[in-house]
Amino acid sequence: MPIDDNNDGAGDDALALYVHWPFCLSRCPYCDFNAHVRETIDQTRWRDALLTELAYWADQTPGRALTSIFFGGGTPSLMDPATVGAVINSAAKHWSFADDIEITLEANPTSIEAAKFADLKAAGVNRVSIGVQALDNDALKFLGRGHDRDQALAALKLAEKTFSRFSFDLIYARPGQTSGSWSKELQEALGLAGDHLSLYQLTIEKGTPFYAEERAGEFVLPEEDNAAELFNVTQEICDRHGLPAYEISNHARPGSECRHNITYWQGGDYVGAGPGAHGRLTINNTVYATEQIPGPENWLEEVEASGHATRNRAAIDAAARVEEIFMMGLRLTSGLSRDVFWERTGMELEDALEPRRLRPLLTADYLILDNRGLRATAEGRLRLNAILSTLLT
Ligand SMILES: C[S@@+](CC[C@H](N)C(=O)[O-])C[C@H]1O[C@@H](n2cnc3c(N)ncnc32)[C@H](O)[C@@H]1O
Ligand code: SF4
Repeated sequence: MPIDDNNDGAGDDALALYVHWPFCLSRCPYCDFNAHVRETIDQTRWRDALLTELAYWADQTPGRALTSIFFGGGTPSLMDPATVGAVINSAAKHWSFADDIEITLEANPTSIEAAKFADLKAAGVNRVSIGVQALDNDALKFLGRGHDRDQALAALKLAEKTFSRFSFDLIYARPGQTSGSWSKELQEALGLAGDHLSLYQLTIEKGTPFYAEERAGEFVLPEEDNAAELFNVTQEICDRHGLPAYEISNHARPGSECRHNITYWQGGDYVGAGPGAHGRLTINNTVYATEQIPGPENWLEEVEASGHATRNRAAIDAAARVEEIFMMGLRLTSGLSRDVFWERTGMELEDALEPRRLRPLLTADYLILDNRGLRATAEGRLRLNAILSTLLT
């Protein structure tokens, strides 16, 4: 699907749905997502609660058309396919579906999860995003993954056979990784890829085991210059193979960008259901940020007691909205179009930008402002956080 200024061609009533499944078989030492390990999960109770929360959100968003559904986690491939099917069927009752609705599920590549692909497809999933993370057994061990290279390759093969679209994730800029070894791994990955790849530089998140290990000197991340070189090599190789970056970490064949993520980056509306899920909803011309209770058991009990487990629901004021639209839109290679900016904020780009902050960034070739809108150059995307703080603070 081409990136389109009207946020995916489905009209102003377009809506995306995110469903969070918070469970994993084990915790990976780098990960700070809302993910928990539990001995047993009562799938029936969880299904009922997810359906209850969907009904609550549907009441708030009548007459809207869903353009995408994304099951994220945690590890949604641990969901019973019948639970996934029940969520999709219930969504279809609450909202209308765009003809080409994208329904993605994040999957880990263990054999148990890959064995569910056919049932997930039958349940309505039409795209999987697989957490391969590395194609090298030593790296997979370092990352604490529960799968090995052979399982990853088998899961990719099965995904290709089962779904018309699939993506996978790799984590690079790992300790000891050189541009030579990463180029080799990436070229192999491109040979295995479908229409989409997510390539994340390893980040060390506070509170994770990797945070303590790195501080204790147990491993050393690549220096900043080396990480920048790895990023540049990534862009070059992916360009050459026809999967250019459309966002900092996301690459796709033109037309196969992940519709769901584009909704986020273009500031579109999305419902967030499940523990810790975030949402953005425009109701009577006010944009609300919503956030569900993150703890799985607390979320479940609150939904059962009250019909939803919303922890926060706050109107976003105009200044904060402009800021978030810049922060999200500049992640996209195509940047922020004038139309999208107008649609989301009711302002012209120039009216929201302070010339004394913008000018040096244009002069340094980090940003481009033209008839299409505002976008970061490749050099700019490499230092986007610094650029945003110059532009916005
Ligand atoms: C919700 S997570 C994982 C989904 C799925 N449970 C899995 O492990 O494959 C989505 C992706 O974020 C990336 N990720 C998570 N933590 C990261 C970190 N600290 N640094 C870089 N990438 C990270 C991983 O590539 C992961 O596949
Ligand atoms: S990376 Fe995936 S499997 Fe690992 S803890 Fe995070 S969500 Fe769970």
